[in-house]
Amino acid sequence: MLEDIATSNTRLVELTDAVTAHNYRPLPIVVAHAEGAWVTDVEGRRYLDGLAAYSALNFGHRHPALLQAAREQLERVTLTSRAFHNDRLGPFCRDVAALARTDRVLPMNTGAEAVETAVKVARRWGYEVKGVPDGRATIVVADGNFHGRTTTIVSFSTDPVARAGFGPFTPGFVVVPYGDAEALTEALTEDTVAVLVEPVQGEAGVLLPPAGYLARVRELCTAAGVLMIADEIQSGLGRTGATFACDLEGVTPDVYLLGKALGGGIVPVSAVLSRDDVLGVLTPGSHGSTFGGNPLAAAVGHAVVRLLETGEYQERARVLGEHLADRLRPLVGNGLTEVRVRGLWAGIDIDPDLMSGREACELLAERGVLAKETHGSTLRFAPPLVVEAADLDWLVDRLADVLAHAPGRGTP
Ligand SMILES: Cc1ncc(COP(=O)(O)O)c(C=O)c1O
Repeated sequence: MLEDIATSNTRLVELTDAVTAHNYRPLPIVVAHAEGAWVTDVEGRRYLDGLAAYSALNFGHRHPALLQAAREQLERVTLTSRAFHNDRLGPFCRDVAALARTDRVLPMNTGAEAVETAVKVARRWGYEVKGVPDGRATIVVADGNFHGRTTTIVSFSTDPVARAGFGPFTPGFVVVPYGDAEALTEALTEDTVAVLVEPVQGEAGVLLPPAGYLARVRELCTAAGVLMIADEIQSGLGRTGATFACDLEGVTPDVYLLGKALGGGIVPVSAVLSRDDVLGVLTPGSHGSTFGGNPLAAAVGHAVVRLLETGEYQERARVLGEHLADRLRPLVGNGLTEVRVRGLWAGIDIDPDLMSGREACELLAERGVLAKETHGSTLRFAPPLVVEAADLDWLVDRLADVLAHAPGRGTP
């Protein structure tokens, strides 16, 4: 019975392992409660959340304003489907469009759905507006990309683990090196309808493109008459110290993709944002989602937009991010080989001779810090933006301790 094992970390891990597909390899921490930047496991141990559900929890666990919006909506109406209107969708979309200084919003649920939607919109825009011959549209993407897990999206992934065994793949994508504007120039043809890019590659390890790259992508897209689609599902909504990571380079893409934090860590909410002439290519019946734009999602998403309108969280990310960077940099040469920081978002490369990323995460968890490796020896820190500077100090102190006692260093 669940009741018998509900307070045993080990037994809950065993149960979950026995009855779920093994498409993840989670750390053996069983979270039962959470508040702000901290979580508590079933046995009462507290951990600093250094991952924030891959930035879906930018505003922290159970932010009071978001809980209130959700609770109020639960008491009224939660789902209508798009067969009818609901009183939450219009106000939410108006304000999220204003945040991105654009015209229209197409609400979906998960990030992958937003990406899929953008692929369809870009193709149709290419045929109907740009005049690309039917069936010839191509979309340029970057190597090392992470845009989600659907069959079409893994078709243009360069990660063999994400693709193996899932073919045949969707054609129509061209992969160029990330951050290489020359390669992008050469890849653009008359049949190109869009360039799909992450302003910062989160899953790849918080990889930052060279300064000026996004502005160059913008210029090239404008010159070639193709849509610039910025996947801000992980980088957007405050994480980088600005509302959108594109803002940091003064770039406005044609299409923004949002997800993760848009749902406030409560419900899945994603969205495609663009101008009239782009989203206008969709007609009734050409696209949709039963849950997309549901009133509960819209109410929570709207509350998220209100939090962002104050600029407080963007500023916290900027200031706390500088603090985190200052604390992490001295570890380069002392167990770390590289540190990359953009806002409150850090990718750190651990010296692979010391330990793997997985080992580092296990040792951090033993010390009360939750983090997740991305590839090999790279870890990403993306704590909720409500974290305190003292929490970040504590996190870096734990990391320094892990590095000092690394298996590869022998007995200290
Ligand atoms: C940049 C980016 N795009 C898309 C996705 C996919 O989002 P979801 O997992 O909600 O489908 C992710 C998830 O990590 C992401 O980081």
